[in-house]
Amino acid sequence: MAVKDGPERSLAERKRLGAWYTPDGLAMRIVRRAASLVDGPIRNILDPSSGAGAFLVAAAAIVPGARLCGVDADPLARAACQERAVGAQVVVGDSLLAEDEGGIAWTREFPEAAAAGGFDLVVGNPPWEVLEAAAHQGRHSRRAYADALRRSGAQVFATGAKINLYRVAIVRAFEHLRPGGVLAFVVPGGLLRDASSEDLRAFLLDAGEWSEVWELETGAALFPTAHRELSCCVVFVRKGRPTAQLCVRAAGSGTPVLLDRAVLDRLGAPDRSIPALASEAELDLMARLWRLPKLADCVGGIRKGDVNLTTDRELFCDHPTALALRTGKEIGPYRVPGGPRRWVDPERFGKRAHPERVRVAWRDIADRALRKRMCAAMLPPHSVLADTLNFLVLSGDEAEVAYFVALLNSHVFEWAVRRRSAHNHLGKRIVGPCPVVPYQARDTRCRQIAALATQAEQSAAAAIRADAAVAHHYGLSQADLTLILEGFPKQPYALKEAILGAFDG
Ligand SMILES: C[S@@+](CC[C@H](N)C(=O)[O-])C[C@H]1O[C@@H](n2cnc3c(N)ncnc32)[C@H](O)[C@@H]1O
Repeated sequence: MAVKDGPERSLAERKRLGAWYTPDGLAMRIVRRAASLVDGPIRNILDPSSGAGAFLVAAAAIVPGARLCGVDADPLARAACQERAVGAQVVVGDSLLAEDEGGIAWTREFPEAAAAGGFDLVVGNPPWEVLEAAAHQGRHSRRAYADALRRSGAQVFATGAKINLYRVAIVRAFEHLRPGGVLAFVVPGGLLRDASSEDLRAFLLDAGEWSEVWELETGAALFPTAHRELSCCVVFVRKGRPTAQLCVRAAGSGTPVLLDRAVLDRLGAPDRSIPALASEAELDLMARLWRLPKLADCVGGIRKGDVNLTTDRELFCDHPTALALRTGKEIGPYRVPGGPRRWVDPERFGKRAHPERVRVAWRDIADRALRKRMCAAMLPPHSVLADTLNFLVLSGDEAEVAYFVALLNSHVFEWAVRRRSAHNHLGKRIVGPCPVVPYQARDTRCRQIAALATQAEQSAAAAIRADAAVAHHYGLSQADLTLILEGFPKQPYALKEAILGAFDG
């Protein structure tokens, strides 16, 4: 194993330490960009979890003469780092805990940076481990560590019983920056759109100038030993004034997109989510779509199924009853292809909201790598929905239900969902703020779309026409629809051509 890969470790040990080292080329690009954003001279550079030193090596090349400071909890990593980043001062210690809880003594270890009011540049890839109180019960050392972090005042932005170490690391890094200094960290992609990261996003937007974010390809390409689905991003924040503009670089071939704060606040509402945007054209389209009403405001509610597949198990039976159990896996676009596999005992189900109406439901879990993720269908009366499905509460007739099935299955709506989507779930928080054209019973196009949705149960051609009709209804141009379809690279070319053909026809 090369020194740059750090000390030889078992997978379990790597997980415990969060020891996934950053490739040299990426560290180089990050340090170069971060250094260009610093206000004033760069004399003191810190990587507070320096591992085998990828960032300090890059810093030595990009800012020659600067003082290089590193901290790592792992003595073996420190040795590897010291060997590579010659001249760096690397300390073994904890950079997340407060000093009186066992953290390193910053002023004593790095007096020059302390005298200068803090570091000019803090770079790195902090540990991403999540400490969960329940999961660590019985494992005294981890529980004690979580308690020490809480006493350190580092529970900021921890959700419930969980402590995400990368969040603590960001807040701590900020404390060690001088005004005008820049923080550049590789962190989980969840920071950009996860509900639980909302407060941290607010912090980054207001405690400093969050000037840039790079979304990276999935983790496996970057960190070969990490999980395939791991998503990551790099954030660049300058300590000082609040954010006025944020530059977003999407993963892959996207071009940088500049978002003014007012636009960001509007498109990211209500949870300050950072939209996934790959070009200025996408921003323009999103800004226009986001003037329409939100789905959540046009329906009576967005709910997760009637029953929990695990905790309500005693309600289910294998023989047919009047109530069919339906799960996410059984739903296809526009239709439910097979008959029910399980049923619900009506006596036990009792007086719970009785599913007497036709409902529009869609799969809650849909892998982000799927070529099409939103999958909605009409569920007949007496279907009991599992919590792997979401449904709309609607007060209108079946035409309204059919209309929303077409809308939710459309590429336009899913394109909007993808701007906000953070993980594999497609629940209320993700889809609720997405734009829709409200249903109006007297509107000819609404009725036309509803009729096509009903035919689409049997006919792929009708599904294509419904998709195109929804795009018209949203007021889109052919160029808009082309751009939207380009956002589905795994969809067959022939299908996209057919939708565009129906749009023009
Ligand atoms: C994701 S690795 C990144 C290392 C290096 N910055 C890089 O990008 O290659 C995280 C490092 O944080 C270290 N670490 C974990 N907890 C720490 C803590 N509380 N204080 C300091 N270092 C810590 C681990 O030993 C590991 O080397």
